[in-house]
Amino acid sequence: MRKKITVIGAGNVGASCAVRLAQKELGDVVLVDVLEGIPQGKGLDILQSCPIEGTDVRVVGANDYAETANSDVVIITAGFPRKPGMSRDDLLWKNFEIVKSTTEQAVKYSPNCILIVVTNPLDAMCHVALTVSGFPKQRVMGMAGVLDTARFRAFLAEALNVSVESVVAFVLGGHGDQMVPLVRYTSVAGIPITDLLDQATIDRIVERTRFGGGEIVKYLKTGSAYYAPAAATVEMVESILKDKKKVLPCSVYLEGEYGIHGLFVGVPVKLGAAGVEQIYEIKLTDEERAALHKSAAAVQELVNLMKPELEKIRA
Ligand code: NAI
Ligand code: 2OP
Repeated sequence: MRKKITVIGAGNVGASCAVRLAQKELGDVVLVDVLEGIPQGKGLDILQSCPIEGTDVRVVGANDYAETANSDVVIITAGFPRKPGMSRDDLLWKNFEIVKSTTEQAVKYSPNCILIVVTNPLDAMCHVALTVSGFPKQRVMGMAGVLDTARFRAFLAEALNVSVESVVAFVLGGHGDQMVPLVRYTSVAGIPITDLLDQATIDRIVERTRFGGGEIVKYLKTGSAYYAPAAATVEMVESILKDKKKVLPCSVYLEGEYGIHGLFVGVPVKLGAAGVEQIYEIKLTDEERAALHKSAAAVQELVNLMKPELEKIRA
C-alpha cells in the first residue's frame, strides 16, 4: 500500500514539499491550508505534473483534516515567515497558535504519524508539537540542520570548486544565528577542510552559513527561503518512509545528551521507520561544547517564555 504524507500549510515551503514528494513518488500527498481554494488548486496542479514525471501518486488539497486521515508522516509548514529586519524568534506567538491548532487536528486524524515541524522559530515550535501531540519523542522532530548543513556544503563546494556530493559536514545547535557549523567534522571526501582552505575563508563561510536564511530574506523581501527547505524536509521524509536510516542533523528532544535536558536542539540522528531511531553523541572540544550550549540557551529562552502556555496544554 502507498504511504501517505500530509503537508500542512500550502505556502512556499509546503507547496514546494508537495511537488518534491510527488516527483519522488514517496506517497500520496494531502495539502492543507486555511486559505480556501489554494491547497485544492495547488494540489490539482501538482497532480497534473505526475503524468509528465511518470509518478503514480494521488495529490489533493483541503481546508479540513478529514482527507489527512491515517497519514504516515505529517509536515507542519503552516505559519508566518519572517520579513527583512525580523528574527525567527519574532514569529513566536503568531506561530505558537498556528502550530498548536494544526498539531491538534493532525494527530486527531493520524494518531500514529511521525511529525516533522518546519515552522519557525523551529526548535521552540517542536516543543509545541511534542506537547500538543503527546507523542513519544521519537515521533516529533524539526527540520533545520539538514538545511543549514546544505548551505554550509554548498558554500564550501563553491569555494573549492568540487562537487557538493564530496563535501561532508554538519551543523549542530538551534536553528538560529548561534548555530554551530562543525568545522572539525567537515571534510572533502575525508580530507579535512582545514587542509584545503585558510582559516579566514573557513570563518567567512561559517558566518555566511549562520546567516544563510537572513541573506535570502533580504533578497526576497516578502518572505524566506523555500526550495532548499523543501528539499531538506523531503530528505527526512524519504529516510523515514524508506527506512533508509540516514544520519542527518535534526532538531530532536534531548534528555541529557550533550548535557542538555528537556530541550529540542539540532544534533545528528538516525532517521528510519520508527522516526528518530538513535541520537549520536559525538565528542566535542570545550569550545564546540560551549558554542552548542550557547545556541541551546537561545532555544531555552523561547521555551521559558512559552512555559505557562505549554503547562496549560499539559493540564
Ligand atoms: P508562506 O507564508 O508561504 O506559507 C505559510 C502558509 O501557512 C500560508 O499559505 C498560510 O495560509 C498557511 N497557514 C497559516 N495558518 C494556518 C493554519 N492554521 N492552518 C493551515 N495553514 C495555515 O510561508 P513559508 O515560506 O511556506 O514558510 C512557512 C514557515 O516555515 C514559516 O514559519 C517559516 O519561517 C518556516 N521556515 C522554516 C525553515 C526551517 O529551516 N525550519 C525554512 C524555511 C521556512
Ligand atoms: C531559513 O533558514 C527562514 O528559517 C528559514 O531560511
